[in-house]
Amino acid sequence: MFLLSRQLTISLSILWMMAAANLVAKADTIPSLGHLYRHKFFIGASVSPSNLRSEATRLLIKHFNSLTAENVMKMGLIHPEPGRYDWSGPDSIAAYARAHGMKFRGHTLVWHKQTPDWLFRGSDGGTVSREELLKRLREHIFAVAGRYRGRVYAWDVLNEAISDDPGTFYTRTPFLDICGEEFIEQVFRWAHEADPEALLFYNDYRETDPVKRRKIIQMVTRLREKGVPIHGIGLQCHWSIYSLREAELEACLRDFAATGLMLHITELDLSVWPGEPERRALRPSDNVNAYTKEHAEKQDAIYGMIFRSFVKYSDVIQSVTFWNISDRHSWLNEWPVRGRLDHPLLFDRNLQPKSAFRKVVEQAGNK
Ligand code: GLA
Repeated sequence: MFLLSRQLTISLSILWMMAAANLVAKADTIPSLGHLYRHKFFIGASVSPSNLRSEATRLLIKHFNSLTAENVMKMGLIHPEPGRYDWSGPDSIAAYARAHGMKFRGHTLVWHKQTPDWLFRGSDGGTVSREELLKRLREHIFAVAGRYRGRVYAWDVLNEAISDDPGTFYTRTPFLDICGEEFIEQVFRWAHEADPEALLFYNDYRETDPVKRRKIIQMVTRLREKGVPIHGIGLQCHWSIYSLREAELEACLRDFAATGLMLHITELDLSVWPGEPERRALRPSDNVNAYTKEHAEKQDAIYGMIFRSFVKYSDVIQSVTFWNISDRHSWLNEWPVRGRLDHPLLFDRNLQPKSAFRKVVEQAGNK
């Protein structure tokens, strides 16, 4: 009896060890995305400094050869007070990228969101003057782009300046209101002076909307005609499985490629919920956790389609960055519905590859 139960325990342990080994093997034997796509474009992820001390590093090291700071290079965090910069976060990402032979994208020098309170305030407590705001922008750009010279190879110089409203060209921001549109060419010129080697990008979302796209293209074309140093367009690509259509994506890449500028896919994710522009409260009808068969099937098909298109345009696309490493890390778990989870990436909450991962792998051999 004793012998029998001992044998049973041993067999169960062996079975358990085989199952555990299988799980590890599954993650270890899958191909490296970065390696598969090495002749086409870099494969990047946005990270926070704490990601670099977490178990997610095994995914980063294996699959990704480019990093973007998710938040720590934005004005509010890197330059919280006049004259005080917090380099700790970006420095740790720069060091990690260097240690692992990865590229480092700078995100972002100028954006009207996540700005520090002091930036738009004058010494009298009122709105800052035009001259003073331009001086502050110049100093900021020289300090940040100057510090990461030789470490950041490409900068998102300006983020999201074009309006979503079809009847309006620029988004109304304090930069536009106070400085007028000339600030746009200035920030590119200063970034180029601060780091003449860096590739400079204009970065925006809703790139598949033909009206917004036309405006983006018009703006960058005007900048180039004026001799402003701008090397590429960053397409954020925050998409949903319910809205992205192949014809729309094709038109988008075709039009941007025709500008002759380099393209970076800067913030790719594919939500399993319909896109919603505003934050809203959780509703009882929200299915907060499910990653259903329907989600998986749609996501597989659309990730396959996305990478088929990226590969087709790989002569102009130099880099494809996912916004976050895995579903566990995604910003969409909290946005736009607090308390609802999303599943927008190729690795699940346990850092295991999803079926969409295989669909992306399958496209690497095509042209
Ligand atoms: C925009 C910004 C990113 C990030 C995402 C949401 O796309 O460019 O830095 O804030 O929104 O996380």
